[in-house]
Amino acid sequence: MSDVKFFSGESVPLEMHKVRMVQRVNLLPVEERLKCMGEAGFNTFLLKNRDIFLDMLTDSGVNAMSENQYAAMMRADDSYAGSETFFRLEEALQDMFGMKYFLPAHQGRACENIIAQTLVKPKPKSVALMNYHFTTTKGHIIQNGGSVEELIGDDGFKIQSDEPFKGDIDIAKLNEAIKRLGKEKISFVRIEAGTNLIGGQPVSMRNMREVSRICRGENIKLIFDASLLADNLYFIKTREAEFKNTGLKEITREMGSLMDVIYFSARKLGSARGGGIVTSDDGMFAAMRELVPLYEGFLTYGGMSVREMEAMAVGLHETLDIDVISQTPIFVEAMCNELQAKGVPVVMPPGGLGCHLDAKQFCSHVPQKQYQAGALASALYITSGVRGMERGTLSEQRNEDGSEILAEMELVRLALPKRVFTLSQIKYTVDRVAWLFENRRLIGGLEFVEEPKVLRFFFGRLKPIGNWPEVLAQQFRKDFGESL
Ligand code: F0G
Repeated sequence: MSDVKFFSGESVPLEMHKVRMVQRVNLLPVEERLKCMGEAGFNTFLLKNRDIFLDMLTDSGVNAMSENQYAAMMRADDSYAGSETFFRLEEALQDMFGMKYFLPAHQGRACENIIAQTLVKPKPKSVALMNYHFTTTKGHIIQNGGSVEELIGDDGFKIQSDEPFKGDIDIAKLNEAIKRLGKEKISFVRIEAGTNLIGGQPVSMRNMREVSRICRGENIKLIFDASLLADNLYFIKTREAEFKNTGLKEITREMGSLMDVIYFSARKLGSARGGGIVTSDDGMFAAMRELVPLYEGFLTYGGMSVREMEAMAVGLHETLDIDVISQTPIFVEAMCNELQAKGVPVVMPPGGLGCHLDAKQFCSHVPQKQYQAGALASALYITSGVRGMERGTLSEQRNEDGSEILAEMELVRLALPKRVFTLSQIKYTVDRVAWLFENRRLIGGLEFVEEPKVLRFFFGRLKPIGNWPEVLAQQFRKDFGESL
């Protein structure tokens, strides 16, 4: 983000950090990668880390931590109740969002459990309105007898768009939904920062202000999922003209003033492991507080290790440093631009979190029912040792009658955990994706052999329809010779 121009005129995403600890990675020969993919049931979640070259599954819990975060872990105050660590973290959050209360939880979905249990009602079935769901968010709402309605603007699903804030809630759809359902039926409105499943796409402050105004007018609770706030902050700063010269803390404070409840996965926000809920709403705080000791742990640790809480407090503070938060978005942008220049369909404009391949176009010859994005993620691992994540139909849950929900988007997410990969590793990935795109006709479909009912993408097992993975591996060997 620091304004560094190259004499060559080249646009290079320059790291504003140096690497002082490393982890060895393995790149297996293609024949072994093929075998590993088979053993993992063509589900990249079931691969073993030792068999992966570049792990782009997620940024969750795998962001690089800073020296200050590691240093802070050493002073963690390990007591069951009333630890100093808790008060340091509470203060960091109060300072960031200007909210009164903090409830700790072991990760993001634990916060979702608490919020859903507090606000979702089965009879009559309440509806949660949101820009777009995240898998675990929807899981908890459904588990509590509610349902989800998505209000993303029309550009949200467009792979190619000029809209800088594709994560915005469509205000006309929000007004219409409130009118149609009546506010009593609405459990809450939820805004997800850096909207994950549509390609890490940001929400504008303008939109947050408008949604907040409507919710306050109707007395509907507004919940903010800040898990991907770091990227979203970067985009507000760089794409929303009004904030060009505004400090990042001022922006997070304004967000805090607009929301009733903010929750986050600290596996993402703050680059540690854990989660939390902040609010200034006395009623919400009292109701949610009862659930923390029941599901998480005592109120001053909430299921987290105090060492992680210390790392989180520092990580949250570092989120307000533009040089820290810009690294992922500028790398994602460089990766998307290179892939697009090679004709590979990727979600544009580039979002945060990672580069998203559009499997609907990439594998247009594979029927969507045969899990285009799942097949592409498997094919990419075989081709490169790079692990991505399916974000499409496989990540949906079937309807109650057993029919498939075909996802709006079939994406393969190549997540870039914060400050983990180098530019040469990105270039390697781009190169292998480009080869796979040239050879995309070799990719075939998948079908389930073992299908869990809930969150099936985590541990479901599939098999290829036909012997396409073998053919793909043979073609790789033919084109690359001895190369890994
Ligand atoms: N909300 C969002 C927007 C998320 O991206 C995640 C997790 C959660 C909530 C749940 O948090 O994992 O700490 O329980 N996203 C991870 C991912 C799993 O890979 O994108 P959690």
